[in-house]
Amino acid sequence: MTDSNLLKNPESLFTLGYGLYIVTSRKDDRLNGQISNAIMQVTDTPPRLAAAVNKDALTHEFITHSGVFTVNVLSESAPINLIRLFGFQSGTDKDKFSQVPFEIGLTGCPIVTDHVVACMEARVETTLDCGTHTVFIGQVEAARIIGAGKPMTYAYYREVLQGKTPPTAPTYRASAAVTSSKKIKETSEMGKYVCDVCGYIYDPAVGDPENGVEPGTTFEDLPNDWVCPECGVGKDEFSPVE
Ligand SMILES: Cc1cc2nc3c(=O)[nH]c(=O)nc-3n(C[C@H](O)[C@H](O)[C@H](O)COP(=O)(O)O)c2cc1C
Repeated sequence: MTDSNLLKNPESLFTLGYGLYIVTSRKDDRLNGQISNAIMQVTDTPPRLAAAVNKDALTHEFITHSGVFTVNVLSESAPINLIRLFGFQSGTDKDKFSQVPFEIGLTGCPIVTDHVVACMEARVETTLDCGTHTVFIGQVEAARIIGAGKPMTYAYYREVLQGKTPPTAPTYRASAAVTSSKKIKETSEMGKYVCDVCGYIYDPAVGDPENGVEPGTTFEDLPNDWVCPECGVGKDEFSPVE
């Protein structure tokens, strides 16, 4: 009964509210972090936070290794490029902390010092295996205000910044699943272009009908102001699929 209701109204899940955070951790001398919206406080005495982290993320590996994570609460001033850096790129390919100001907190995790209103440093007490994601539950060992500003909500990110969410996020929208299947590289087919920022593949056979691009439109013929429907970057961030 519940399952069939869910299938009839999957969008009901989109009514849940979230904030937007950079969750950071470390592994020995290496620092990393990722954008997360799936963070919540689960108890007050003592204060504990839960963070749902995709098992494929480098941040997952770092938290599992060090047993510590820090939640950086983004402010509404956070530029979309900061969210793209931490939310669409992996620390496996890029040293994210070479590009942002930070300091090291009490647990050794980095604290982002720009566009962050507060941070909470947690030590993992319990983990919950949830298939694609692990929920890390950590006790807060330190918490403080970093800067002025209004905390960014996930709704603000989606509605005001027109931000997208990659499939690795627990709240990835089912409506984007069609796009996800396009990500499989079919190297035998020519004319496809991949977004270097988020991995979206533009397939001329499919076009981008949701944004007024008819099937059969080559990448070269896309309007110059066309942007990646997944992460919003321009055409110059795309490369031919080889
Ligand atoms: C708006 C937004 C929300 C996200 N929420 C989560 C989340 O709650 N949990 C998660 O595991 N990944 C989430 N992600 C995806 C990660 O940030 C992304 O997979 C990141 O590239 C992982 O980086 P890493 O491999 O360096 O750890 C989100 C991304 C965006 C843009």
